[in-house]
Amino acid sequence: MRFTVAIDGPAAAGKGTISRAIAARFGFQHLDTGLLYRAVGRRVLDGAPALIAASTLRHRDIARDDLRTQAVAEAASQVAAIPEVRAALVEFQRDFARAEGGAVLDGRDIGTVICPGADAKLFVTASAEVRARRRFDELGGEASGTDYETVLAEVRARDARDMGRADAPLVAAEDAVVIDTSDLSIEAAVERAVEAVLAASAQP
Ligand code: DC
Repeated sequence: MRFTVAIDGPAAAGKGTISRAIAARFGFQHLDTGLLYRAVGRRVLDGAPALIAASTLRHRDIARDDLRTQAVAEAASQVAAIPEVRAALVEFQRDFARAEGGAVLDGRDIGTVICPGADAKLFVTASAEVRARRRFDELGGEASGTDYETVLAEVRARDARDMGRADAPLVAAEDAVVIDTSDLSIEAAVERAVEAVLAASAQP
């Protein structure tokens, strides 16, 4: 059985949580495609040329535990604007999408570019303020040494870059089910996503 779920949306909207829940609920494999761009960004910070880093990417590069920092997120967002880098990562993602038993891929362009024929498409979003608040709390709040305004400015800057780039900008696919998680609990958001996947699976 092959069934592909594409989940796109901006940073900190809840894509990761929803993707993991969908994968667990239906027994699908899950790929967080942001990790590919983060792994490339990480190697660029270490001095590698972006295209070399992208074209030699291996599975073990995305399993590193140092990909979640703000510096790596910034570098990822920058390398993601390079068309050749995106092109070099397409096959890795499409191979994954063909996984026997079903696959969930989350990112920015899964439903539009990587898997336009996905069986189910979700676009998970939330206001920039809500996403910045979540990210700030995740970082440890006031104790983290940063403040909410700084995190909000970073969220807005990354949105502008991800939505404004010429190649594969962040945008909802026309046939995506939009889930705005601004006022939803995690459970309610997951419930909506599960319903959308079940509804898509019932389509002829
Ligand atoms: O989802 P994330 O924060 O891990 O993504 C890091 C960056 O990678 C993000 O700013 C944009 C880019 N990205 C992308 O362009 N396309 C994807 N499918 C996934 C991530």
